[in-house]
Amino acid sequence: MSERSPAVLFVCLGNICRSPLAEAAFRSETARAGLTVEIDSAGTGDWHAGSPPDPRAQAVALAAGADIAALRARQVTVDDFSRFTHIFAMDAQNLADLRAIAPADTSARVSLLLDLVPGREGASVSDPYYGGEELFEYTWDDVTAAARALVAELAR
Ligand code: 4NP
Repeated sequence: MSERSPAVLFVCLGNICRSPLAEAAFRSETARAGLTVEIDSAGTGDWHAGSPPDPRAQAVALAAGADIAALRARQVTVDDFSRFTHIFAMDAQNLADLRAIAPADTSARVSLLLDLVPGREGASVSDPYYGGEELFEYTWDDVTAAARALVAELAR
């Protein structure tokens, strides 16, 4: 049986800070590696559905060469568990919320994003929403480390 090509979903709470940055970092790393992967992001909550990424997230992505202004937030759906092969939660609450709605027969791998990064297993990507711009730099560093690890894993 041929394995289906990877499809990766990044999930946070609002889909305006962390998961759009994870999406952008992973898009950049897959392009650099020449990998074709379906990539999206979503939030467990719907408060920001339809909104562009937080301006501070847009700024940190743009500084790294990624324009994420056209992204729009959406809430995760049950269909995502069949559409995606990998679903990465930014924090432990996002992971618990995903597991609570996951269909029993899903074959998607649902895990914490930082489980990909040696030494960071079990850690959460800190929520930068209520912090300053420097927190968004930490977020970018975290999601970039995970994106690189995931590309290395998928390229194997
Ligand atoms: P995100 O950040 O989950 O990384 O997109 C947040 C965005 C919005 C809120 C919290 C976190 N909020 O409470 O509205």
